[in-house]
Amino acid sequence: MSALRAVGVHAGYGPVPVVRAVDLHVSAGEILAVVGANGAGKTTLLTALAGLLPLSGGHLEVADARLTRTGPEQLTDAGVALVPEGRRLFQGLTVEEHLTLGRWRQRVPRAEFAERRRHVVELFPILEIRKDASAEVLSGGEQQMLAIGLALMRAPKVLMLDEPSIGLAPVIIDLVFAVLDTLRAQGQAIIIVEQRVQKVLQLADRAVVIQHGTIVAEGPARELATDPRLHAAYLGASSIDLD
Ligand SMILES: Nc1ncnc2c1ncn2[C@@H]1O[C@H](COP(=O)(O)OP(=O)(O)OP(=O)(O)O)[C@@H](O)[C@H]1O
Ligand SMILES: [Mg+2]
Repeated sequence: MSALRAVGVHAGYGPVPVVRAVDLHVSAGEILAVVGANGAGKTTLLTALAGLLPLSGGHLEVADARLTRTGPEQLTDAGVALVPEGRRLFQGLTVEEHLTLGRWRQRVPRAEFAERRRHVVELFPILEIRKDASAEVLSGGEQQMLAIGLALMRAPKVLMLDEPSIGLAPVIIDLVFAVLDTLRAQGQAIIIVEQRVQKVLQLADRAVVIQHGTIVAEGPARELATDPRLHAAYLGASSIDLD
C-alpha cells in the first residue's frame, strides 16, 4: 500500500505549467528523495502534493484511496503534512503553543495529544527545554526541529520536507537526518527535497530526479547517486552542491 501516490500530476502558476505528468509514490517506512537543479520544480511539486497549489491534471491517492478534492484542508485531513522551505513558524508563539496548534481542528483527544507530544520531544529533546521560548528567538536548527515537530503533531501518514538542511550547521543537519532515519524505522512515510544531493541519496530508499518539471530518472537512491542522468539533470545549473 502506498501512503501517498501522485498519478500524472500537472501543476503550475496560472497558465504557466511547471510540474508535468509526475507519477510517484511513497510507502510507510520509506524515504523518497526528490532531487533536481534549481528551478526544476521540486517546491512546486511538494506544494501541489500538499494541496497548496491546485492540480491542473492527474490525481492523488492517500492510503490507496483517491482524493476527489485536493485543497489544503483535504490533504491535511487525509494525513499529508509539509514542512515548507524556510520553516514558516508563527512569530510570537512559543514552542509549546506551536505544538498545541491544530489540536482543536483535528479534535485530538487529550491522551492522544500527550502521546504525540511525548513522541516529538523524545525525537527533539531541545523542544522540551525550550518550550516557553518564542519561535523567533530559536536558533535555525531549533526552528527546523520545531517545524518538523509541528508537522508530526498531526500524526501524518506522509511527512514532506522541503530543503530541511538550508542554513543549518553540519552537525544539526546530521541530527535532523538521524531523526528522519528514526521516523522511517517507526514506519513513517517521508518525501524529502534536498539540495545536498549525495547526502540525501545516502539516507533515502528511493529517489526521483526532476528536470524541467518532469521525472527523468528514478530508482534505488544509492544507485542513482552514480547515475549519469542525475549529473545530466544538474548540468548548466549554477550553485549546485552535488556533494
Ligand atoms: N509563485 C510562483 N509564480 C510563478 N512562477 C513560479 C512561482 N514559484 C516558482 N515559479 C517558477 O516555477 C519553476 C520551478 O520553481 P520551484 O521553486 O518549484 O523549483 P525548485 O526545484 O524548488 O527550485 P530550488 O532548487 O531553487 O528550490 C521556476 O521556473 C520558478 O521560476
Ligand atoms: Mg525549491
